[in-house]
Amino acid sequence: MGVLANVRSISVPWLRVARHALFRAALALAACCWASVILAQQTAAIATAHPLATAAGYEILKRGGNAFDAGVAVAAALAVVEPYSSGLGGGGFWLLHRADDGHQVMVDARETAPAGVRREHYFDRDGKPIPGATRQGGLAAAIPGAPAALAHVATRYGALPLSVSLAPAIQYARAGFKIDPRYARIARLRERFLQKGTGTARIFLDGMQAPQPGYVLRQPELAATLERLAREGASGFYSGRVGRALAAAVNEAGGVWQHSDLESYRVVERAPIRFTYRGATITAAALPSAGGIALAQSLGMLERFPSASPGNPGHAHLVVEALRRAFQDRARYLGDSDFKPVPVTKLLDRRYIARRAATIDPGAATKSDALGDEQPVRSESGNTTHFSVIDEAGNRVAATLTINLLFGAGIVAGDTGVLLNNEMDDFSLGDDVPNAYRLRGGRANGIEPGKRPLSSMTPAFVEDERGVLILGSPGGSRTVSQVLLAILQYLHASRVDLPRLLALPRFHHQYWPDRVEIEPEGFTPAWRAALAAKGHTLETVNRKWGNMQVVFKSKQTGAAHAASDPRGADVAWY
Ligand code: DON
Repeated sequence: MGVLANVRSISVPWLRVARHALFRAALALAACCWASVILAQQTAAIATAHPLATAAGYEILKRGGNAFDAGVAVAAALAVVEPYSSGLGGGGFWLLHRADDGHQVMVDARETAPAGVRREHYFDRDGKPIPGATRQGGLAAAIPGAPAALAHVATRYGALPLSVSLAPAIQYARAGFKIDPRYARIARLRERFLQKGTGTARIFLDGMQAPQPGYVLRQPELAATLERLAREGASGFYSGRVGRALAAAVNEAGGVWQHSDLESYRVVERAPIRFTYRGATITAAALPSAGGIALAQSLGMLERFPSASPGNPGHAHLVVEALRRAFQDRARYLGDSDFKPVPVTKLLDRRYIARRAATIDPGAATKSDALGDEQPVRSESGNTTHFSVIDEAGNRVAATLTINLLFGAGIVAGDTGVLLNNEMDDFSLGDDVPNAYRLRGGRANGIEPGKRPLSSMTPAFVEDERGVLILGSPGGSRTVSQVLLAILQYLHASRVDLPRLLALPRFHHQYWPDRVEIEPEGFTPAWRAALAAKGHTLETVNRKWGNMQVVFKSKQTGAAHAASDPRGADVAWY
């Protein structure tokens, strides 16, 4: 899959031509020289991880939808064509900007722990964590938020009914689509998991084997569930026969779902994290994502040092040290703030961030174990997919959606076609029990009934005098550093060059384990040596990571561009 296959910018004057016969006539009369200038101007853009999802969004804009309708169409299409990454059985965060009044909101569609779940369910008699319990089977799945988000975004922000915006996804599910080499590789990687899962082999494998590229994957049951959602709204998913089938399948696989868990699921509208960095305004995901807070803290610390190219090893050292401190705070304080207050204001306080930055030694790595336990507060009682859309009017969507690990919990519920997530693994089972992303966390992110697990997903907007950048990526805990590095590169470069921004090699630090993870390509021996000389332990990861999708719209010209991560064709494990 080529980079350009995933993205498309559209010439919105064409849409007007299609919608308004009068304008069409005027345009026909106009001199062709200026008409071609207008037609060359691209004012809307969509970047997604799959060409069919991009096409679905484009189709909906053409039918008079706004960016929010296009986002609904894209998310539903991704649920069908990238079933290992996101879907109706998962959740995510939608960062929205409404052009009319500048309203910005994060639609929190994170999954919730079922009411019947207890921390003890994940431990054996000897008090040891049961291997895989948070990752596979009924106890791994949390109550999905994705269908509620589709209904909410469509009805509150969209211009079209769900029956229109879900139509492309329904068509892909029913008629089928030819799988690409990426699907084939991921299915091969997870072949045994899919063979053993509940209802998964029948849908995602060809016989009992991973299908070859070109195989037509049909999901008629998922099509029927999407149609029910289109007809009945969220209750078409959470209540009645779909809801009953979901709970039955999960409980059959060892889970503890009650029908009321599904019926009471609601998305929550939250204020995003907003801050400035060297004159740019950045908006990003709030809790229960740790992403926006980590970005604000990291950039706040970096602002106290001179700006430099993110490729420069001296600057990379500072980025690592900022991430180390931000991820320490994540482990110490962050979790679902609806359960236990999280001192977000204090964590984002400039004086606290300055004190943290002051502990950074530009010449040497701080060992994570030796990092001080400075308290910000004493009194104040926190495989995936991303897409970015902007329309002609300037409405924006940055949405990162997930079922967590590839193919989630490996449970397709009955005849619903819905593949359930394993988001329970994003909770912390204890300070010394790392999750799939080697993240450790504290009580703030412990399992509790009804709670939302802490996430790293970081959909973001960056606004400066040049325009607006909309970005995000999958990658588990490495999502935060990917978004951070892309923002640093965007703000450092004098020219907006999306392919270059995406091609930059990535590095990551998350406090624990205390090492700088780096991609296998793109770092020179001199760069590695410079980091090692400061005392960092480098770990070269065997695969590149991430699948970033970016859109940029220029303030000066109104032109919009989109670009997809060149890594998108690879298997992104996390
Ligand atoms: O919410 C989170 O942080 C994770 N469940 C996201 C998983 C992810 O990004 C996997 N990516 N490849």
